[in-house]
Amino acid sequence: MSQYRAVKGTKDIFPGEIASWKHIEKVIHRVADLYGFQEVRTPVFEYTELFQRSIGETTDIVGKEMFTFRPEERGQSITLRPEMTAGVMRAYIQGGLAASAPVHKLYYIAELFRKERPQAGRQRQFSQFGAELIGSSSPEAVAEVIGMMMQVFADLGVAGLKLRVNSLGDLDDRKHYIKALREYLEPYSAGFDDVTKERLGKNPLRILDSKDLDIQEVVAGAPKLRDYISVSAVDEFERVLRYLDEKGVAYVIDPLLVRGLDYYCHTAFEVISPELGAQDAIGGGGRYDGLAKQLGSKADIPAVGFAVGMERLLITMEKQGLLEHLEPEGPQVYIVLQDPRLVGEAVGICDALRKSGIKSLMDLAGRSMRAQMREANKIGAAYALFIGQSEMQSQVFGLKNLKTSEQESLSVRDIIGKLKPGRGM
Ligand code: HAM
Repeated sequence: MSQYRAVKGTKDIFPGEIASWKHIEKVIHRVADLYGFQEVRTPVFEYTELFQRSIGETTDIVGKEMFTFRPEERGQSITLRPEMTAGVMRAYIQGGLAASAPVHKLYYIAELFRKERPQAGRQRQFSQFGAELIGSSSPEAVAEVIGMMMQVFADLGVAGLKLRVNSLGDLDDRKHYIKALREYLEPYSAGFDDVTKERLGKNPLRILDSKDLDIQEVVAGAPKLRDYISVSAVDEFERVLRYLDEKGVAYVIDPLLVRGLDYYCHTAFEVISPELGAQDAIGGGGRYDGLAKQLGSKADIPAVGFAVGMERLLITMEKQGLLEHLEPEGPQVYIVLQDPRLVGEAVGICDALRKSGIKSLMDLAGRSMRAQMREANKIGAAYALFIGQSEMQSQVFGLKNLKTSEQESLSVRDIIGKLKPGRGM
C-alpha cells in the first residue's frame, strides 16, 4: 500500500524546527506586549461572503485562491480564512469592542489558507503574525503599527529588509484615480494578455505592479497616483513619514506600490526580504478605513494593520544564520538505570522529580548503561542520576554534573532541594 503524503502546499513542522518557531513567537509576544497589543484568536473558517466583501471580488485571493465548501447541501458557503484582517474586524464588530474603548490593538499568530501554486516561500497552508489597530485614524497609529513590525524584525536580528511605503489617498481619491488610470490604459488593451485585460475591467490598480516588461512600459506613462491624492491625504502621509523618521525606521517611497487586497486606503506598505527570490514580500499592510462599514458597522471605524509571513521570516532568518544557536533545552536530569530490574523504582523517582518541577527523562527503549549515558549527553541533560542496587538500598544516589563531571551522593529529597526551580542549578 502506498504511504500517505501531506497535501500539496502543506508542510509538517518537526520537533527539530520547533525551537526556531518558538523563538520567533516569543519575540512576537514580547514586542506586541511592549506596544500594548493584545492577542486575538478567530475561527479558521468564516462565511465566504465575509472575504468576498472585504478582500474584494476582483482580487486573486477571492477570484481563485480560496478553499471554499458547503458543509450542508443547502447551507451557506464557508471558506478557510485566506487572511486575518476580515475575520478580526468581523469579531471586533460582532463582539461590540468599540463600546469598551475607543482604540483596540489586537495581534495574532495564525494559520491561513490560499490555493496558490506552491513554491519556495509560497504554501497553501501558511502562517502569519500580524496586528490590527482599530479605532484610530491618526498617523501616529500607522507609524506605531509599522514600528512594532520593524521592532520584531530588529529584535530577531534580521538584516537587509526594505520597507516600501506609498499613499493610496482617501477612498474618493482612489476612485478618481482608478477612473483616470482605466481611461489611460484602455487604448492599449488590445495588446494585453487575458489577466491584464480582466484587471483593467475589474481592478486596474493591480496593473501598476505587473511584472511584465511591456506592461511596465505602458505603466511608465500612466497618470500618477500622487497627482490624485487630496491635500489632507498628502498631509497625513507626510506625518506618517515624519513619525517613522522620528522612530529611526528607514523606508523607501514607492509610488507604484499597490496591494493585492482591495480594502486599503491612505498609507500602504510592504517589506521586502533580500533572501526570498521571486516571493520577496515578507510582510505588508496599510490603513483600511472603509472595511468596518463594508462589514455592516453603522459607524466609520478607521483601522490599520500588517501581517508578516512566518515561513518567509524563517527562510530569511535561516539564510542569515540566525537560527543556528537555537537548540531545544535539554532535561535537568537524565536517569541512568544500572540494573533493568529497577525500572519500577526509576519510574517512581522520575515522577517525584517531575512533580517537583524538575524536567527529568529516563530511557524507554531498554538500552544499555553506556547508551543511556550517550543519550543523556546528546540531548544536553545537565545531570545524570544513577540508579543501581546499592543506591536503592542506601537511598543515596549518584548525581553527576555532565558539564563539570563532578559527582555527589544525595537522597532524592536533597536532589529535589538542589534542583528545584528557583534554586538555580
Ligand atoms: P498579504 O500581503 O496578503 O496581506 O500577506 C502578508 C504576508 O503573508 C505576505 O507578505 C507573505 O509574507 C505572507 N503570505 C501570503 N501568502 C502566502 C503564501 N501563500 N505562502 C506563504 N506566505 C504567504 C494580508 O494578508 C493582510 N491581511 C495584511 C494586513 C493586515 N493588512 C492590514 N492588516
